[in-house]
Amino acid sequence: MTTLTSYEHYQQRINNFLAGKLESLTSNDPKLLEAMRYGLLIGGKRMRPYLAYITGEAISANLDDIDAVAGALECIHAYSLLHDDLPAMDDDDLRRGKPTCHKAFDEATAILAGDALQTLAFDILVNHSFASKDDSSNYQVQIQLIQQLVHASGYQGMCGGQALDLAATNKAIPLSELEKLHSLKTGALLKASVLMPTTCSEQVTSEHKKILSDYAQLIGLAYQVQDDIIDLTSTEEELGKPVGSDLAANKSTYPALLGLEGAQDKAENLLQQALQALTRLPYNTQSLADFATFIVKRSH
Ligand code: IPE
Ligand code: IPE
Ligand code: MG
Ligand code: MG
Ligand code: MG
Repeated sequence: MTTLTSYEHYQQRINNFLAGKLESLTSNDPKLLEAMRYGLLIGGKRMRPYLAYITGEAISANLDDIDAVAGALECIHAYSLLHDDLPAMDDDDLRRGKPTCHKAFDEATAILAGDALQTLAFDILVNHSFASKDDSSNYQVQIQLIQQLVHASGYQGMCGGQALDLAATNKAIPLSELEKLHSLKTGALLKASVLMPTTCSEQVTSEHKKILSDYAQLIGLAYQVQDDIIDLTSTEEELGKPVGSDLAANKSTYPALLGLEGAQDKAENLLQQALQALTRLPYNTQSLADFATFIVKRSH
């Protein structure tokens, strides 16, 4: 499997940042805080933060600013998983090699921990002072980042995609609809992981933003196609979450629609297009290219 330069370094960096953030919270309800910690800090590949950091590196953004962006993205992601695993949604018992949050605690606590992690994302953005900005431009950056995160995670992004995913359960949908579903439920947050860092840098032209956005769109889709493939080809031990659960739940997935080989071809095709997009950028995009390869070649 492709190895990623600086992956562990940035995993550690975001873990420290998020742990610090949780430690700074007043413990009104120790059980809720413990469930937030469980959902946010135990395990997880930290791919969205990694993507934010390597994009930030490529465009020479201030990495302290990227801490806030990456932290906010990971809080939204963690919340989405807590809710995704609930009985009302995918009803899964295992996540990141451990009992899901509602199994380790209880359903109400898992719902509230998800809610609180969602708001923590915005807490992080509004309480960060962005580099070398006076008050008014700092607020502008904060508002733009909030807009981007809202767009990626709400009705027009992840939540909308999750609703389409549930609606497509137990029925076959056309490929175009599946693509939309995937682009929203998973693609939107990955796209934000690339676009939010561009808000923290003044040197990215709108043309380059468009290319980065195309790259992110392609790898976001590829990521979910690979997630669907892995659900069929990996083992529970390797994955830390149940395998075959899409099939058991009769979910609409790429392998279900195109067959396993068709889905693998699709992922490869998306990868090639993403790599092609990067060649049109004037930055050192090696890490972004390696990341695209990594997510399509990953086996867990
Ligand atoms: C799993 O996300 C859910 C999807 C959006 C496909 P990840 O594969 O990033 O999960 P963690 O954070 O590493 O556990
Ligand atoms: C979940 O997709 C996507 C979000 C949580 C937004 P899946 O339901 O496919 O994720 P896994 O397979 O449970 O990790
Ligand atoms: Mg799901
Ligand atoms: Mg799920
Ligand atoms: Mg899945």
